[in-house]
Amino acid sequence: MILVEEKNKTREIIKEWKSKGYSIGFIPTMGYLHRGHLSLMEKARRENDKLVVSIFVNPIQFGPNEDYDKYPRDMAGDIEMCKSVNVDLIFAPSVSDMYKTSNQVYVDVEKLGDVLCGAKREGHFRGVSTVVAKLFNIISPDKAYFGEKDYQQLVIIKKMVDDLDFDLEIIPCAIVREEDGLAISSRNSYLSREERKAALILAESLSRARQAMIGGERDVSIIKNIITNELSQEPLAVIDYVELVDAIELRPVARVSERILVAVAVFIGKTRLIDNFIFEA
Ligand code: PAF
Repeated sequence: MILVEEKNKTREIIKEWKSKGYSIGFIPTMGYLHRGHLSLMEKARRENDKLVVSIFVNPIQFGPNEDYDKYPRDMAGDIEMCKSVNVDLIFAPSVSDMYKTSNQVYVDVEKLGDVLCGAKREGHFRGVSTVVAKLFNIISPDKAYFGEKDYQQLVIIKKMVDDLDFDLEIIPCAIVREEDGLAISSRNSYLSREERKAALILAESLSRARQAMIGGERDVSIIKNIITNELSQEPLAVIDYVELVDAIELRPVARVSERILVAVAVFIGKTRLIDNFIFEA
């Protein structure tokens, strides 16, 4: 496994692999790798000749009052995890190698980026799409892997790839959960013991909603109430949003039909957590 910090060196290595006809799988990450990333890496390892993981805490996707400076970092642990699945190359650039101070071009996926988390975190998805576009240009992967926990991010990246004619396939990967149901996220490391317990309310409220939907409930306001009521039982939980939208355009729906994304964002203490599920009516 090679660890490369410079984008030009990474480009050279990729060029050589391409000249030999190797297929390239790519997983963009912000590091602090966990079992969720591991499942993406294992899948990508099986499906490609060469596997590249990027580790880059992308400053332009964090708002001024967000956690860029204190976002968890553990390069030594990340390297070990990458080794354990035979990653071929870790690309870990510096901020100055990725962004010139004169940077003027950004990728903005309209509409899809303005709802759900986009409505709450101004500029977040512009930062995500821009860095992912840059990473795709540097790595030139055949396949790139994204987790469904960040479902909106996945939809936005797919749209960007489609609209800007990137020549690669986006592979969605199922949410990985702890045994008790909590969706795995690097931000779970911020939670105190008490908050960790409280955070279970996200998965529990979604599970209640799913049961109601399996039982035939189709009225979106009733389903939202089920989730909101459940979340309100937990004193440490403050709701950021509870939404049901169509899973392709992310537009609000009044009744459940076809493929629906049920998504929540909830503050547990100071930590903002998200979770979701897809329901096929
Ligand atoms: O999901 C993430 O970790 C980040 O948003 C990504 C895709 C690596 C872009 O910085």
